[in-house]
Amino acid sequence: MKKTIIGITGASGSIYGKRMVEVLLENQIFVVLIATENGKKVFSYELDLDFEFWSNGLKDKYENFSVEDIDNLFAGVASGSYDFDNVIIVPCSMGTLGKIANGISSNLLMRAADVALKERRDLILVPRETPLHQIHLENMLKISRCGGTIMPAMPGFYHKPQTKEDLVDFVVGKILDYIKIEHNLFNKWGK
Ligand SMILES: Cc1cc2nc3c(=O)[nH]c(=O)nc-3n(C[C@H](O)[C@H](O)[C@H](O)COP(=O)(O)O)c2cc1C
Repeated sequence: MKKTIIGITGASGSIYGKRMVEVLLENQIFVVLIATENGKKVFSYELDLDFEFWSNGLKDKYENFSVEDIDNLFAGVASGSYDFDNVIIVPCSMGTLGKIANGISSNLLMRAADVALKERRDLILVPRETPLHQIHLENMLKISRCGGTIMPAMPGFYHKPQTKEDLVDFVVGKILDYIKIEHNLFNKWGK
């Protein structure tokens, strides 16, 4: 079974993280969820859904799901010897992205991202910020040069989205394409 670490930070776009987790769980992928404190707050604010209520509901429903405390640097995912396939931070704040770009691993999510880079596993960051200043751009370039992937939350419109959910599914579907998980979240061009 594939094992994915999903990070949810305090950038706008919690809906992407929520959908990502739910689709992976439905696809029998093992998900380890790590949210920052601001990630939880923005999630609850933007979605009018308490983060703990949502994640506890998933724990009851899925065996392939666990939640780690952001401050628990003793957790398995803090180590390169822990077997996981990738780390996806969606949405990713510029704060967390900047710290990862500069090798700062002061919480479990940043450490898991650092482990992914050093072990040459997939690290996918999904920023949602605009406009971007030079430090943001340089940090993204640093991560890309180190083997990470920057996939901005930029929905396309060529699949003729009708609803907000269609826009979200486009972004989530692009991430699934990248990690090679089949899906029908949007109609692919040419199909
Ligand atoms: C409602 C709300 C929306 C925000 N949206 C963004 C955003 O889109 N991108 C971003 O980089 N930061 C955004 N922020 C700021 C981050 O939450 C803030 O920088 C925080 O320190 C990030 O910490 P974290 O990476 O530990 O979650 C937002 C904050 C709030 C309250």
